[in-house]
Amino acid sequence: MTKPPSFLTRTATDPVMIIPLTEKSFPGWIKKQTAGLKARIKEETFAGKAGQVLFDRDKDGTLSRVLAGVSDPVQLYDFSKVAVLIKSTLQPEFLKKTVFAFDESSLTPADATNACIGWALAGYRFDRYKPDSSPLPRLLCPKAPEKKRAAAFIEAISLVRDLINTPANDLGPEEMELAMRAIAEQHKATLKVTKGAALEKAYPLVHAVGRASPRLPRLIELRWGKATDPKLTLVGKGVCFDTGGLNLKPTNFMALMKKDMGGAAHALALAHLVMSQKVPVRLRLLVPAVDNDVSGGAFRPGDILQSRKGLTVENTNTDAEGRLILADALAAACEDDPALVIDFATLTGSARAALGPDVPPFFTNNDKLGHALQKAADTVEDPLWRMPLWQAYRPKIESPVADLVNSAKTPGDLIYSALFLERFLDGKTDWIHLDLYGWQDSGLPGKPAGGTDMGLRAVFALLEEKYATA
Ligand code: BES
Ligand code: MN
Ligand code: ZN
Repeated sequence: MTKPPSFLTRTATDPVMIIPLTEKSFPGWIKKQTAGLKARIKEETFAGKAGQVLFDRDKDGTLSRVLAGVSDPVQLYDFSKVAVLIKSTLQPEFLKKTVFAFDESSLTPADATNACIGWALAGYRFDRYKPDSSPLPRLLCPKAPEKKRAAAFIEAISLVRDLINTPANDLGPEEMELAMRAIAEQHKATLKVTKGAALEKAYPLVHAVGRASPRLPRLIELRWGKATDPKLTLVGKGVCFDTGGLNLKPTNFMALMKKDMGGAAHALALAHLVMSQKVPVRLRLLVPAVDNDVSGGAFRPGDILQSRKGLTVENTNTDAEGRLILADALAAACEDDPALVIDFATLTGSARAALGPDVPPFFTNNDKLGHALQKAADTVEDPLWRMPLWQAYRPKIESPVADLVNSAKTPGDLIYSALFLERFLDGKTDWIHLDLYGWQDSGLPGKPAGGTDMGLRAVFALLEEKYATA
């Protein structure tokens, strides 16, 4: 389990203070400063703009404090920018012996928590295969309960990134199970795994997609919480590698497909947040974990597949495998009448074509939830954009020989795939579906290139608003 990194500390005798300033607060603040500092600030054109940093030094050259420009209101990644600038500007030897601290009077408890999270995210590195020991700037972190909350976010986000970044040779369906088992044990949740003949019977679509791989497909289920609390069920697409199956992906399209379990990573990380913050829900997490592989035993184009719900699916493309495994998991999700079902999936290339890599589309069958999630996403600056479950498109996923096709041969797949999933629900359960890319193409402060979380903080904010008793 990923733990809060050691560069976050609770003890420091003489920390270097960081003063967060905004373009609005800066003019008033500078009036009260010494003539010397005023002159320097002018020279360095520091104006409190987000991303600007000024190192204020004593006469003898020792760093006395750091002025940091942040947005108004301050956001998580503002603090990542500060950490990145400090690391790239100051000497490693100096960083090793120094602790930085935000003036507690200048930040609300929520902002102090975000400072700690943003700082830690700037220090995230995936160095399992090539250790990197260069020192990261150390930060004095808030006390409990903010400390616990920050730690949970850092763990959850690092977990998403680690799971996505780990290549498929070291992360198959079994390792996905182990990752879920570790989280389950930490929170005393129960874990149930269905595989082999039992999987074929209970989750026929999961079995059909995963059966070509020597690494056994499985349905992994975690349960936690009081039976009397409202039922929240999370589902995550766990395709550990997506070759495309017999409709094999071309080289460029297959390159990043170790990330195709990104939905499962998000759902598991969200479960970790819910359990560590003790959100009063009866939690259930369902992860169908498979390799979409190629072999003589693979499912084929044209196969007509049975599903858990009883609907038949004409498999028009083995590369539209995500919606197949999710279909069975969503059907199972609805069987115990949950109050809300949320699924996360790296489902379609079409989502990226529509909104680009950084704004995941989401779908929901409940307008009130749609507004609440959009608001939460905007508030915590974790972008999401609602797309329509356009019912008039339903004929596009009809098949002449089965109830449904998994792939319609016309643009708009992000909507068709969502409509396909909707058919496996029970027609009354509230549902949110997130179609995410899960990958940062070029690195930004706090968001290094590679696996990345999308919508995780937004959905958690929605859950806290909906369920947490203050
Ligand atoms: N895992 C992919 C979707 C994907 C591709 C997500 C690239 C992020 C980046 C999914 O299983 C897939 O292959 N979808 C196909 C569906 C098509 C065959 C209907 C796609 O999007 O091309
Ligand atoms: Mn695919
Ligand atoms: Zn896929």
